This record gives sequence, structure tokens and C-alpha cells, in this order.
Amino acid sequence: MSATETAGAGRVVRVTVADIARLHADGHRIPTVTAYDYPSARLADEAGIPLILVGDSLAQVVLGYETTVRISLDEMVHHTRAVVRGTRRALVVGDMPFLTYARSDDALAAAGRFLREGGAQAVKVEGGRRTAPVVEALVRNGIPVMGHIGLTPQAINAIGKVRVQGKTKDQARTLMADALAIAEAGAFAIVLELIPEQLAAAITERLRIPTIGIGSGPGCSGQIQLFTDLLGLTIDHLPRHSRQYLRLHESIAEALRAYAADVEAGAFPGDAETVRMDDAVLADVLGRSALDRAADGTLVDGGLIPLDRDL
Ligand code: KIV
Repeated sequence: MSATETAGAGRVVRVTVADIARLHADGHRIPTVTAYDYPSARLADEAGIPLILVGDSLAQVVLGYETTVRISLDEMVHHTRAVVRGTRRALVVGDMPFLTYARSDDALAAAGRFLREGGAQAVKVEGGRRTAPVVEALVRNGIPVMGHIGLTPQAINAIGKVRVQGKTKDQARTLMADALAIAEAGAFAIVLELIPEQLAAAITERLRIPTIGIGSGPGCSGQIQLFTDLLGLTIDHLPRHSRQYLRLHESIAEALRAYAADVEAGAFPGDAETVRMDDAVLADVLGRSALDRAADGTLVDGGLIPLDRDL
């Protein structure tokens, strides 16, 4: 059974880390996307995406923070719950926020919240050799982990700005060592962000676990993109490595302008969006039925609703 099939009797089976390993071993490239809420998760899940990340990019693209450093564990768990509710099949990975995994004890507590409260099946952590002991502790405690090296946005204040990582000999060697350390520590997959394509391909060749690339070329075992970038919901800036498969922000703006114009013109709601009731029932409620008329047809009490009428 492939990772995207259903079990007998129409029961949908959730993808596991073993399924991801099998997809990789069978030579399938692994499409991965971020999701941040119930509708984005449902759409990704129903499209058959096997791996969904509740990325802490949520901070910027949904919550309007300047960097991912600002988002809290509570916020991430809250959104993870919504994503999990929106999925039946995909493996959901929760992104551990800044400073929640600097020490193994903290990491276990935070990851426990993603799995227990959020319903995720795995977590992701940024960093190479320095993070390997944490990966090992999580995996030893039954928590599947995805690594993340190259550009690590939680370190943006140290890095200075978003830029390709690993172009020099030293940086490339460091990244190779980081990837091997994370794989050795037991991660089931590793994100390679903004790494030159030849280096990303070389790392991919050396590892048995799948590499999931973003801005790291086609030689990775899978690709990840932000839901908002793929669908053109990004308003301000589209990274060079992204491809917009839709330009939703334009369609949405157009739809909202049309709606506003219809409301202003009295064209919305129309008959199709409106419910009517029996006019006789309303006349009765308003004290305007036959019972409320004098013999000459005039309304008693000036047509006011009778006080003794059971409303
Ligand atoms: O937070 C995120 O969306 C990510 C992806 C870019 C891999 O970490």
C-alpha cells in the first residue's frame, strides 16, 4: 500500500515516518507543504500531500510578526491542533519555536505538547551538530524528528539576513557535517533551506534519510514550499525559489471589491441568498391579521403588536 492509499473499507490510514522512508527508498520524490489552519490543512491533505509542516513561518505569513523568533509555543500548538483537525492522511510535523529546544529537557516538554495537545506525529528542529543531542533525546523518547539546516530562520538575528548558506569551502563542510550529525541522531528527514544545488545534491547522496529542499535545487529527495507562496497568497514578497501555481491574492482582492460594490449597490443579498417566511404568519406576529381588524377593516390599536400576543 502506498502512503497515499486508503486501507480496506474506505478507512483512511495516516502516513507514518516508515511510509516516508518507504516512499524515499522506492525513489519517490516527497511533496511537502506548510499548512497553518484547518482549511489549508484540508486542502493539502485532500490533494494527497503526504507530509505537512506546521511551520513557524506561521509567525510571518499568518500572524504578521517580523520574524519567526517572536512566535510562542502556545501559538504553534494552537495552530497545530487546527491543522491536525483538517487532515486525515498526511503526517503532520509541528515546528518547535525558538528557544524551546535549547536543552533536551525543554525539548521533550515542548515536543510532548505538539504530540499530546496538538495531535502532531512529529516535530522539526533547526540546527546541525549543536542540535543533534536534542534530536537523539527526542527520538529515544519515541518522538519522530525532522531536522533543518542551511538557512535557519530562527537564527536570523545572528545570521543578519536571509541568504544562501554553504557557498564557501568551510560553510559547505560544516553543512555536510551538520547533515550527517542530524541523520546519525535519528531524524527521519531533514530540511535543506537555501543551499546551493550541488551541495544539496551531494548531501542527499550521502544520507539514507530523505532531504526536503526549499531553495536548494531539484537534487533533494523532496521539496517543501509555503502554502501561501504556492497559491499566491503572499502579498509583499515572493522568494526567488518559490513558484506561484495560483495568484490568489489577486482573485481575492477582486472578489472582495465586487462584494463591497454589490453591498453598496443593494445587489447583495439577492433572492438566492435570502430566506422568506409565510406572509400570513408575519401579519399575525405584527398584529395585522384578520383577527386584528375591526369590522370596517381598520387595524385595532393602530396596528401595534398586541401586548397579549404570544411572541
Ligand atoms: O517554518 C517553515 O515554514 C519552515 C520551512 C521553510 C521549511 O521551516
